[in-house]
Amino acid sequence: MPMTVRKFSLPEIFFGRESLKYAGGCARILGAERVFLVSDSGLEKAGWVEKVFEILETEKLDWFYYSDIVANPRDFQIQKGARLYQEQGCDVVMALGGGSPMDAAKGIALVASNGGTVHDYEGANRIQRPLPPMVFIPSTAGSGSDISQFAIITDVRRCVKMSIISRTLVPNISIIDPLILGTKPRDLIISSAIDAFSHAVESYISRIAFPFTEVQSLKAIDLIIRYLPRALKEPCPDVLEQLAIASTAAAMAFSNASLGMDHALAHSLGGMLDVVHGLVHSVLLPPVMRYNLPACEEKLADIGRIILGKRRRTSRSTALAGIEKLEENFASLKIATRLRDIVSDRSTLPQVCKTASRDACLLTNPRSADWEQMLEMCEEAW
Ligand SMILES: [Fe+2]
Repeated sequence: MPMTVRKFSLPEIFFGRESLKYAGGCARILGAERVFLVSDSGLEKAGWVEKVFEILETEKLDWFYYSDIVANPRDFQIQKGARLYQEQGCDVVMALGGGSPMDAAKGIALVASNGGTVHDYEGANRIQRPLPPMVFIPSTAGSGSDISQFAIITDVRRCVKMSIISRTLVPNISIIDPLILGTKPRDLIISSAIDAFSHAVESYISRIAFPFTEVQSLKAIDLIIRYLPRALKEPCPDVLEQLAIASTAAAMAFSNASLGMDHALAHSLGGMLDVVHGLVHSVLLPPVMRYNLPACEEKLADIGRIILGKRRRTSRSTALAGIEKLEENFASLKIATRLRDIVSDRSTLPQVCKTASRDACLLTNPRSADWEQMLEMCEEAW
């Protein structure tokens, strides 16, 4: 059967050690005179924000700096940023950070150019007008927001993480400098890598995966399995670079093939209970893979083969042994593996699952699920 017409969207990517120095030139090429830079206090402390100031100065660019954002960025922080973008007469949005500053920067670029509030654009393909040019510099190997057409913003009133999905949210340029990862603590390296791993798995088994995304998903899975243990033993630039390649490949895949049930639940847990995104997947990805097994046995066997380093007798046994090994790997990292490790009140689970059942990511999960089936799975993961 011929493949239906598909699009594969990507930013222009600068990848490599010391690529950060091109940030100013990239903004300049995109027409910048006054850059709106979004980052956070962690990157200020590590000295990277100051470094970007210097780079902009070298390029004789003016800037306005905005850092009034938190993990799981809030709608009101976007509104404030968009107002400041206008008032300050900025012309290019630059983000330096993990998923939160980058998603916030996308929201700000969106509202500053399209008006209204960020809620007006919830869902897929609801953005009409072009956004200001965006130059993104990821500081973690995980979220993939510098590559993807997704922005996830918390609606404070409804306690929901809104998924905003549009081709126009793909930044113009992504500058990936693995040296920035060198200042990250162990916990963040782990949670980012597991987020990227779940992007790779969920995009690989997505209903709308296609060859261009599948090859990226498998590459990312392979690299994370091989290099995460080494990164924890010795986080040297060679190894961190491989994790940055993995997270970029995973982002290329999920941006174009979307995600699944693990992310639908992660968004719901983040919006309702403010659970940090990177902590969810070690708990929920294995049960989600098991739930999906009847719908994608061969694909889960491909993943199992990479995790195990070999195939078992049947696809089903390879897939199941791979999931088991993955659980062992997560347990050995001494991170959360039960839902009770990250959620304090069990009675919130039905609402978490009802909200997740309306998340856009669930549409591409290979096996359909209603909220009650998700609740059953969450109860087992408790
Ligand atoms: Fe994620």
